[in-house]
Amino acid sequence: MNLIVLGPPGAGKGTQAKIIEDALGLVQLSTGDMLRAAARAGTEIGLQAKEIMDRGDLVSDDIVIAIVADRIRQPDCKNGFILDGFPRTLQQAAALDQLLTEQNKSLSAVIELKVEDAALIERISGRFTCSDCGEGYHDSFKKPRIDGQCDKCGGTEFTRRPDDNAETVRNRLMNYYRDTSPLLGYYFCQNKLKSVDGMAAIDDVAKEIKGVLSSLRG
Ligand code: AP5
Ligand code: MG
Repeated sequence: MNLIVLGPPGAGKGTQAKIIEDALGLVQLSTGDMLRAAARAGTEIGLQAKEIMDRGDLVSDDIVIAIVADRIRQPDCKNGFILDGFPRTLQQAAALDQLLTEQNKSLSAVIELKVEDAALIERISGRFTCSDCGEGYHDSFKKPRIDGQCDKCGGTEFTRRPDDNAETVRNRLMNYYRDTSPLLGYYFCQNKLKSVDGMAAIDDVAKEIKGVLSSLRG
Protein backbone atom coordinates (compact mmCIF):
# COMPACT_ATOMS: atom_id res chain seq x y z
CA MET A 1 0.00 0.00 0.00
CA ASN A 2 1.40 3.42 -0.98
CA LEU A 3 -0.19 6.40 0.74
CA ILE A 4 0.02 10.18 0.95
CA VAL A 5 -0.96 12.06 4.10
CA LEU A 6 -1.99 15.55 3.01
CA GLY A 7 -2.81 18.54 5.17
CA PRO A 8 -1.67 21.98 6.30
CA PRO A 9 1.24 22.56 8.72
CA GLY A 10 0.39 21.12 12.11
CA ALA A 11 -2.54 19.04 10.85
CA GLY A 12 -1.04 15.86 12.33
CA LYS A 13 0.59 14.36 9.22
CA GLY A 14 3.70 13.20 11.08
CA THR A 15 1.70 11.98 14.09
CA GLN A 16 -0.65 9.89 11.96
CA ALA A 17 2.05 8.68 9.54
CA LYS A 18 4.00 7.24 12.50
CA ILE A 19 0.88 5.45 13.79
CA ILE A 20 0.18 3.94 10.35
CA GLU A 21 3.87 3.00 10.01
CA ASP A 22 3.75 1.05 13.27
CA ALA A 23 0.34 -0.51 12.58
CA LEU A 24 0.81 -1.55 8.96
CA GLY A 25 4.57 -1.92 8.58
CA LEU A 26 4.78 0.80 5.93
CA VAL A 27 7.72 3.22 5.83
CA GLN A 28 7.09 6.87 6.72
CA LEU A 29 8.79 9.21 4.23
CA SER A 30 8.71 12.76 5.59
CA THR A 31 10.42 15.25 3.27
CA GLY A 32 10.54 17.75 6.16
CA ASP A 33 12.43 15.21 8.33
CA MET A 34 14.77 14.35 5.43
CA LEU A 35 15.57 18.02 4.79
CA ARG A 36 16.14 18.68 8.52
CA ALA A 37 18.47 15.64 8.66
CA ALA A 38 20.40 17.02 5.65
CA ALA A 39 20.66 20.40 7.40
CA ARG A 40 21.99 18.76 10.59
CA ALA A 41 24.50 16.78 8.52
CA GLY A 42 25.65 20.11 7.03
CA THR A 43 25.39 19.02 3.37
CA GLU A 44 25.22 21.81 0.77
CA ILE A 45 21.60 21.02 -0.06
CA GLY A 46 20.77 20.73 3.65
CA LEU A 47 22.21 24.16 4.46
CA GLN A 48 20.45 25.80 1.50
CA ALA A 49 17.19 24.11 2.53
CA LYS A 50 17.54 25.22 6.15
CA GLU A 51 17.44 28.91 5.23
CA ILE A 52 14.29 28.36 3.16
CA MET A 53 12.61 26.21 5.81
CA ASP A 54 13.38 28.70 8.58
CA ARG A 55 11.44 31.31 6.55
CA GLY A 56 8.56 28.86 6.02
CA ASP A 57 8.96 28.84 2.23
CA LEU A 58 9.00 25.78 0.02
CA VAL A 59 12.27 24.16 -1.01
CA SER A 60 12.58 23.90 -4.83
CA ASP A 61 10.69 21.14 -6.60
CA ASP A 62 13.89 19.78 -8.23
CA ILE A 63 15.62 19.20 -4.90
CA VAL A 64 12.64 17.59 -3.19
CA ILE A 65 11.71 15.40 -6.17
CA ALA A 66 15.32 14.13 -6.41
CA ILE A 67 15.33 13.25 -2.69
CA VAL A 68 12.03 11.34 -2.92
CA ALA A 69 12.98 9.59 -6.18
CA ASP A 70 16.11 8.26 -4.51
CA ARG A 71 14.31 7.27 -1.31
CA ILE A 72 11.40 5.30 -2.80
CA ARG A 73 13.84 3.13 -4.76
CA GLN A 74 15.36 1.82 -1.50
CA PRO A 75 14.53 -1.81 -0.63
CA ASP A 76 12.67 -0.91 2.60
CA CYS A 77 9.99 0.83 0.49
CA LYS A 78 9.17 -2.38 -1.39
CA ASN A 79 6.17 -3.22 0.81
CA GLY A 80 4.78 0.29 0.76
CA PHE A 81 5.27 3.78 2.09
CA ILE A 82 3.46 6.78 3.53
CA LEU A 83 4.49 10.11 2.07
CA ASP A 84 4.26 12.85 4.70
CA GLY A 85 4.74 16.39 3.36
CA PHE A 86 5.20 15.33 -0.28
CA PRO A 87 3.92 16.20 -2.83
CA ARG A 88 3.35 19.86 -2.01
CA THR A 89 2.96 21.33 -5.51
CA LEU A 90 1.27 20.18 -8.71
CA GLN A 91 4.71 19.74 -10.25
CA GLN A 92 5.73 17.41 -7.41
CA ALA A 93 2.48 15.46 -7.81
CA ALA A 94 3.08 14.98 -11.54
CA ALA A 95 6.67 13.86 -10.86
CA LEU A 96 5.40 11.37 -8.28
CA ASP A 97 2.91 9.91 -10.78
CA GLN A 98 5.77 9.43 -13.21
CA LEU A 99 8.06 7.85 -10.60
CA LEU A 100 5.38 5.40 -9.54
CA THR A 101 4.59 4.43 -13.14
CA GLU A 102 8.30 3.85 -13.85
CA GLN A 103 8.49 1.51 -10.87
CA ASN A 104 5.21 -0.29 -11.60
CA LYS A 105 3.75 1.08 -8.40
CA SER A 106 0.52 2.91 -7.78
CA LEU A 107 -0.99 5.19 -5.19
CA SER A 108 -3.53 3.47 -2.91
CA ALA A 109 -5.04 6.61 -1.36
CA VAL A 110 -4.45 10.21 -0.33
CA ILE A 111 -5.57 10.83 3.24
CA GLU A 112 -6.55 14.47 3.79
CA LEU A 113 -6.49 15.68 7.41
CA LYS A 114 -9.09 18.45 7.71
CA VAL A 115 -8.19 20.84 10.55
CA GLU A 116 -9.33 24.40 11.32
CA ASP A 117 -6.70 27.14 10.92
CA ALA A 118 -6.85 28.34 14.54
CA ALA A 119 -6.22 24.78 15.77
CA LEU A 120 -3.15 24.51 13.51
CA ILE A 121 -1.48 27.49 15.17
CA GLU A 122 -2.24 26.07 18.62
CA ARG A 123 -0.87 22.64 17.68
CA ILE A 124 2.32 24.01 16.18
CA SER A 125 3.06 26.40 19.03
CA GLY A 126 2.85 23.56 21.60
CA ARG A 127 4.85 21.00 19.66
CA PHE A 128 8.15 19.50 20.84
CA THR A 129 10.13 16.42 19.84
CA CYS A 130 12.43 13.92 21.52
CA SER A 131 15.99 14.79 20.44
CA ASP A 132 17.02 11.11 20.48
CA CYS A 133 14.24 9.24 18.65
CA GLY A 134 12.14 12.04 17.11
CA GLU A 135 8.88 11.08 18.86
CA GLY A 136 6.52 14.06 18.71
CA TYR A 137 4.72 15.61 21.70
CA HIS A 138 2.50 18.56 22.55
CA ASP A 139 2.37 20.76 25.67
CA SER A 140 -1.38 20.12 26.06
CA PHE A 141 -2.50 17.36 23.69
CA LYS A 142 0.26 14.76 23.99
CA LYS A 143 2.49 15.09 27.03
CA PRO A 144 5.08 12.41 27.86
CA ARG A 145 3.63 9.96 30.43
CA ILE A 146 6.52 10.83 32.79
CA ASP A 147 7.28 14.54 32.73
CA GLY A 148 10.59 15.25 30.95
CA GLN A 149 11.07 11.66 29.71
CA CYS A 150 10.31 10.29 26.24
CA ASP A 151 7.69 7.49 26.31
CA LYS A 152 9.37 5.71 23.45
CA CYS A 153 13.14 5.76 24.19
CA GLY A 154 13.46 7.23 27.70
CA GLY A 155 15.41 10.23 26.33
CA THR A 156 15.38 13.41 28.40
CA GLU A 157 16.37 16.00 25.76
CA PHE A 158 13.64 17.67 23.71
CA THR A 159 13.76 20.19 20.87
CA ARG A 160 11.42 22.72 19.26
CA ARG A 161 11.63 23.43 15.52
CA PRO A 162 13.03 26.86 14.52
CA ASP A 163 10.14 27.24 12.02
CA ASP A 164 7.52 26.77 14.74
CA ASN A 165 7.07 30.47 15.54
CA ALA A 166 3.93 32.53 14.91
CA GLU A 167 5.28 34.54 11.95
CA THR A 168 6.74 31.55 10.08
CA VAL A 169 3.65 29.45 10.71
CA ARG A 170 1.49 32.05 8.95
CA ASN A 171 3.83 31.97 5.95
CA ARG A 172 3.74 28.14 5.91
CA LEU A 173 -0.05 28.29 5.98
CA MET A 174 -0.12 30.82 3.12
CA ASN A 175 2.14 28.55 1.08
CA TYR A 176 -0.15 25.62 1.84
CA TYR A 177 -3.22 27.43 0.52
CA ARG A 178 -1.41 28.76 -2.55
CA ASP A 179 0.69 25.77 -3.65
CA THR A 180 -0.51 22.62 -1.90
CA SER A 181 -4.29 22.87 -1.54
CA PRO A 182 -4.79 22.51 -5.36
CA LEU A 183 -3.63 18.91 -4.84
CA LEU A 184 -6.97 18.17 -3.18
CA GLY A 185 -8.67 18.66 -6.55
CA TYR A 186 -5.89 16.81 -8.35
CA TYR A 187 -6.36 13.68 -6.24
CA PHE A 188 -10.15 13.98 -6.09
CA CYS A 189 -10.12 13.74 -9.89
CA GLN A 190 -7.89 10.65 -9.66
CA ASN A 191 -10.46 9.12 -7.27
CA LYS A 192 -7.79 8.79 -4.57
CA LEU A 193 -8.87 11.44 -2.07
CA LYS A 194 -10.13 10.27 1.36
CA SER A 195 -10.86 13.11 3.78
CA VAL A 196 -10.88 12.52 7.54
CA ASP A 197 -11.78 14.73 10.48
CA GLY A 198 -8.38 15.88 11.74
CA MET A 199 -10.02 17.93 14.53
CA ALA A 200 -10.74 14.77 16.54
CA ALA A 201 -8.37 13.44 19.21
CA ILE A 202 -5.19 11.73 17.93
CA ASP A 203 -6.45 8.17 18.61
CA ASP A 204 -9.82 8.89 16.99
CA VAL A 205 -8.20 10.28 13.86
CA ALA A 206 -6.04 7.14 13.71
CA LYS A 207 -9.15 4.94 14.02
CA GLU A 208 -10.87 6.77 11.19
CA ILE A 209 -7.79 6.38 8.97
CA LYS A 210 -7.52 2.66 9.77
CA GLY A 211 -11.20 2.28 8.81
CA VAL A 212 -10.55 3.98 5.47
CA LEU A 213 -7.51 1.78 4.82
CA SER A 214 -9.31 -1.45 5.67
CA SER A 215 -12.14 -0.53 3.30
CA LEU A 216 -9.48 -0.15 0.57
CA ARG A 217 -8.11 -3.61 1.28
CA GLY A 218 -11.57 -5.21 1.65
P1 AP5 B 1 7.23 19.66 7.33
O1 AP5 B 1 8.20 19.12 8.29
O2 AP5 B 1 6.49 18.73 6.44
O3 AP5 B 1 6.23 20.63 8.09
P2 AP5 B 1 4.69 21.02 7.87
O4 AP5 B 1 4.03 20.58 6.61
O5 AP5 B 1 4.66 22.47 8.15
O6 AP5 B 1 3.95 20.14 8.86
P3 AP5 B 1 4.35 19.89 10.35
O7 AP5 B 1 5.43 18.87 10.42
O8 AP5 B 1 4.58 21.21 11.03
O9 AP5 B 1 2.97 19.34 10.90
P4 AP5 B 1 2.35 17.89 10.87
O10 AP5 B 1 1.16 17.92 9.99
O11 AP5 B 1 3.38 16.82 10.63
O12 AP5 B 1 1.82 17.82 12.37
P5 AP5 B 1 2.32 16.97 13.64
O13 AP5 B 1 1.94 15.53 13.47
O14 AP5 B 1 3.74 17.28 13.98
O15 AP5 B 1 8.00 20.70 6.37
C1 AP5 B 1 8.81 21.70 6.93
C2 AP5 B 1 9.43 22.54 5.83
O16 AP5 B 1 10.24 21.70 4.98
C3 AP5 B 1 8.44 23.22 4.85
O17 AP5 B 1 7.95 24.44 5.38
C4 AP5 B 1 9.32 23.39 3.61
O18 AP5 B 1 10.18 24.46 3.78
C5 AP5 B 1 10.15 22.12 3.62
N1 AP5 B 1 9.52 21.03 2.85
C6 AP5 B 1 9.12 19.82 3.33
N2 AP5 B 1 8.56 19.07 2.36
C7 AP5 B 1 8.64 19.84 1.22
C8 AP5 B 1 8.21 19.62 -0.12
N3 AP5 B 1 7.60 18.47 -0.49
N4 AP5 B 1 8.41 20.60 -1.02
C9 AP5 B 1 9.05 21.76 -0.67
N5 AP5 B 1 9.45 22.03 0.60
C10 AP5 B 1 9.26 21.08 1.52
O19 AP5 B 1 1.35 17.59 14.77
C11 AP5 B 1 1.54 18.93 15.21
C12 AP5 B 1 1.33 19.00 16.73
O20 AP5 B 1 -0.04 18.75 17.01
C13 AP5 B 1 2.12 17.95 17.53
O21 AP5 B 1 2.55 18.53 18.72
C14 AP5 B 1 1.09 16.83 17.80
O22 AP5 B 1 1.36 16.16 19.03
C15 AP5 B 1 -0.22 17.61 17.86
N6 AP5 B 1 -1.34 16.86 17.30
C16 AP5 B 1 -1.34 16.06 16.21
N7 AP5 B 1 -2.57 15.56 15.97
C17 AP5 B 1 -3.38 16.09 16.92
C18 AP5 B 1 -4.77 15.95 17.22
N8 AP5 B 1 -5.58 15.18 16.47
N9 AP5 B 1 -5.27 16.64 18.29
C19 AP5 B 1 -4.45 17.42 19.05
N10 AP5 B 1 -3.12 17.58 18.84
C20 AP5 B 1 -2.58 16.92 17.78
MG1 MG C 1 5.45 16.85 10.23
